[in-house]
Amino acid sequence: MFYYSKTKSDNQSFVMDVRKRIYNQDGYFVFKNFIDAEKAESIARRWSSGRFDYEFHDRFANSEVRIGHPNYCYHRPGSPDLSYCMHMWNAPVDQELHSICLEAQSLRNLVEGRALHFGTQLHDPLILQYRLSRTLSTDTSVFPHADFLEEPRRDSMGDHAYDPRRCQMTLMLSDYGTHYKDGGFFLQNNQDKQLLLGRDVSAQIGDLVLWKYSNKHTVTGVVPMDQDLGFSRVIFPSFDKEYVDVSA
Ligand SMILES: [Fe+2]
Repeated sequence: MFYYSKTKSDNQSFVMDVRKRIYNQDGYFVFKNFIDAEKAESIARRWSSGRFDYEFHDRFANSEVRIGHPNYCYHRPGSPDLSYCMHMWNAPVDQELHSICLEAQSLRNLVEGRALHFGTQLHDPLILQYRLSRTLSTDTSVFPHADFLEEPRRDSMGDHAYDPRRCQMTLMLSDYGTHYKDGGFFLQNNQDKQLLLGRDVSAQIGDLVLWKYSNKHTVTGVVPMDQDLGFSRVIFPSFDKEYVDVSA
């Protein structure tokens, strides 16, 4: 199992400081070196090469996902772009990545004040999916939007009621200025200033960024410098159990 300096994340004053930074001050917090840069790059490279002997299903819309569905892959905004979507109810495709994602989820749970393994069990009200994405296209792959502000979403993963506690995470698997430039993940901070991760925020390969889900965000303008990695990262959406569990 992968563990990120537990002594630090279990420290209550540290968690309080992270919450203050996310909710009151900056709108985000960067866990530096969540995984080693070398490990992050090796994960990104083995996924970009498609070396896994594993068949991903064609894309499901978020609203189509149901418990028991296979893991799926889609190509957006263009054919060279990859998003591998992996569910908690399927056996791990990549044990190392799976273990890292479970640890990231625990960290988010600490910040959001939830039970440590919330979201990883099928009886939880929210069920995690982790999504490894590699963007090479300059076109917009995520149009500007904010989540959990009661704004209608075209393809929702569940209830979108106002919930300022919710955080999303971005695990950086490539480096701005080395593997891609000019664009990437833009986040509006709590002072309504748009910041580009890696350029305006110190977020390097291997860093885990927790950010306030209700702040506006977009992915656009990526210019790849490394044609395998481009802008590679993992994000961690959660699906409402009542949307994905048709037996409930
Ligand atoms: Fe979003």
